[in-house]
Amino acid sequence: MSTILRQPAEITYQAELDALKAQDSGNKPENWQLSPQAVVTYILGGKAPDGTAISAKYIGNRRLVETAVATLATDRALLLLGVPGTAKSWLSEHLAAAICGNSTQVIQCTAGTDENQIRYGWNYAQLLANGPSRDALVPTPLYRAMEAGSLCRLEELTRMGSDVQDTLITVLSEKMLPIPELNDAVYAQRGFNVIATANNRDKGVNELSSALKRRFNVVVLPLPDDMKEEIGIVSRRVEEMGSSLSLPVPKNAAEEIEKVVTMFRELRGGETLDGKITLKTPSGNLSTAEAIAVMVGGLSQANWFGGGALKAEDISTNLVGAIVKDPVQDKAVLEEYLETVLRKRRDYASYYHAINEVL
Ligand SMILES: Nc1ncnc2c1ncn2[C@@H]1O[C@H](COP(=O)(O)OP(=O)(O)O)[C@@H](O)[C@H]1O
Ligand SMILES: [Mg+2]
Repeated sequence: MSTILRQPAEITYQAELDALKAQDSGNKPENWQLSPQAVVTYILGGKAPDGTAISAKYIGNRRLVETAVATLATDRALLLLGVPGTAKSWLSEHLAAAICGNSTQVIQCTAGTDENQIRYGWNYAQLLANGPSRDALVPTPLYRAMEAGSLCRLEELTRMGSDVQDTLITVLSEKMLPIPELNDAVYAQRGFNVIATANNRDKGVNELSSALKRRFNVVVLPLPDDMKEEIGIVSRRVEEMGSSLSLPVPKNAAEEIEKVVTMFRELRGGETLDGKITLKTPSGNLSTAEAIAVMVGGLSQANWFGGGALKAEDISTNLVGAIVKDPVQDKAVLEEYLETVLRKRRDYASYYHAINEVL
């Protein structure tokens, strides 16, 4: 087994990608590794033509995934939008892995990102010694993707300044990147496109200019609206992450996942599942991704400090951490939830006590 902590999707799922590629009879856009149909099968799961089982990476609406894939086959870029933890980055990685076999051309956009990290930088030693030349130029992931005809991922696009965002306009509309220092330009090869992610909830985001927005098709990734679906996502990811961390998944994990997801959904939705009690909602967004993190933390604690079974005590500290983002307001929200809801549920007694202990 490899000792690398986390391999990119195209390595982890190489066998699935190879099986899909082997007998892919669909038409492919130029420079794509797989046909759009096969990409959707890779993302949503199913069977390869040779019978190989393909695991589901993203669980959700097929139409959304089809739209995302179809967009990437056009001259418009793809923007995955949604609150944190709705699998934007996850889907982006898997789309890139399936379409161009390389999900590692990523630019993480931050408030400190400048044009050189988007377009190209310079190797200053070379630049001073020999003057500006292609050799002295340091390509960015975007530059490389244009040259290779592959996909570039831009994570959290709206975190970088609007002026820097706008350097993408020429790239996206004219498919070329001017290099004025060399009186030259990079022309994108067929197959080049951009997958950006952005979230519409966080502080510190810079709205996209309307000129840039027009170059993107926006696909909004929702929080799962169905309880069963959300439990399914959490169970699957907890199992996968448990196995990659060599953490055993105790038998009762499914029951505890159901309880944690219930608490998340009730607090997120502002009422109990039966609709009888109205609740205050905490300031955090209590995403599916956070439920997964709470459970994986619980597995680790149960494994290293507990007796093997997963108990409320193993989960409650992380649970409180996920719910209480604002130490005053959210604490009050959680206390009220404990007293008005959990206290009266017999099967949640251990959570009632364990949470009270750390709150
Ligand atoms: N609908 C979903 N299908 C599959 N996995 C999901 C889904 N929603 C959330 N996840 C899981 O949540 C985790 C975090 O998602 P991530 O892509 O980092 O969120 P985002 O970039 O939207 O903030 C991933 O491990 C992903 O597997
Ligand atoms: Mg993300």
